[in-house]
Amino acid sequence: MRRIGILTSGGDAPGMNPALRAVARTALFAGLDVVGFERGYAGLIEDRAVRLDHARVGGILQRGGTVLQTARSREFATKAGLRRAVRVLRKRRIDALVVIGGDGSYRGAMALAGAGIPVAGVPGSIDNDLWGTDMAIGTDTALNTIVRAIDSIRDTASSHRRAFVVETMGRGSGYLALMSAIATGAEAVLIPEAPLKLRRVAATLRRGFDEGKTNGLVVLAEGAGKAAEVGEALARMSRLEIRVTVLGHLQRGGAPSVFDRLLASRMGAAAVHGLREGQSGFAVGLEGAEIRHYPLEKACARMKPLKTELVRLAERLA
Ligand code: F6P
Repeated sequence: MRRIGILTSGGDAPGMNPALRAVARTALFAGLDVVGFERGYAGLIEDRAVRLDHARVGGILQRGGTVLQTARSREFATKAGLRRAVRVLRKRRIDALVVIGGDGSYRGAMALAGAGIPVAGVPGSIDNDLWGTDMAIGTDTALNTIVRAIDSIRDTASSHRRAFVVETMGRGSGYLALMSAIATGAEAVLIPEAPLKLRRVAATLRRGFDEGKTNGLVVLAEGAGKAAEVGEALARMSRLEIRVTVLGHLQRGGAPSVFDRLLASRMGAAAVHGLREGQSGFAVGLEGAEIRHYPLEKACARMKPLKTELVRLAERLA
């Protein structure tokens, strides 16, 4: 193997930069050339290649987002798009590709592996819904951002004796909502995996105020409903003053946490090691304290389920 390619794809996640730095520097250390493609699969198809040397990935460890930029490409999902991508990789004599991204990006990586390109997937996604890894890069930072925001909302909520509905990201996954609910002691959490009746949530909030609480907090995952509608319904049912905050894309930005920097550094290096050992079509995962390789196919076959005991924990501790 002489030359390795790398791209970041899908929604950005804090820690993508340290991951691509780790991939580049591990490969450079082994004497390989490193080529980055800007804007994910879209840039791969358009051959937006940049040579990554040691200095080019310097000073990015602590930066959020991805310096390679990212995109969600419709064209790559077509047969013609895949053919164009393979042509670019062959033309540039790239022997293996590292894809940093979430489930959609992994499906793209599988398609490339199917077309004969050695590929490694590194999980970069705040949603933490990828099967086969305890944590994805970016999730810890996003959770810290969410928890800081909710703590601030608690301050104003209790000053005004209000309840709040705070919407987190997570189109198909309630992980961020559930974990931040536990970490902030939310009164209720609404997630796609374990739907709750709004009447029950309203009763919980009402009871809290009746028993002397000065505020109430409901964390709502994006995939479990629209914050404005949920807020209105809860206000009607509970007769409480309710405000709504949609955290939105601020959850995806910011400097990566120490946890994410370490995870990204270990995973990026492990991706290059696996490719150099001759593996292909694999994903890098964290299992307990260990970094492991496992088939991309498994990562794409299903979403990681939420642990039901955590749903119960959130409820009991509220
Ligand atoms: O996949 C990550 C994610 O952050 C989801 O939680 C969210 O629904 C989506 O991306 C938002 O994507 P976009 O940035 O394209 O609006």
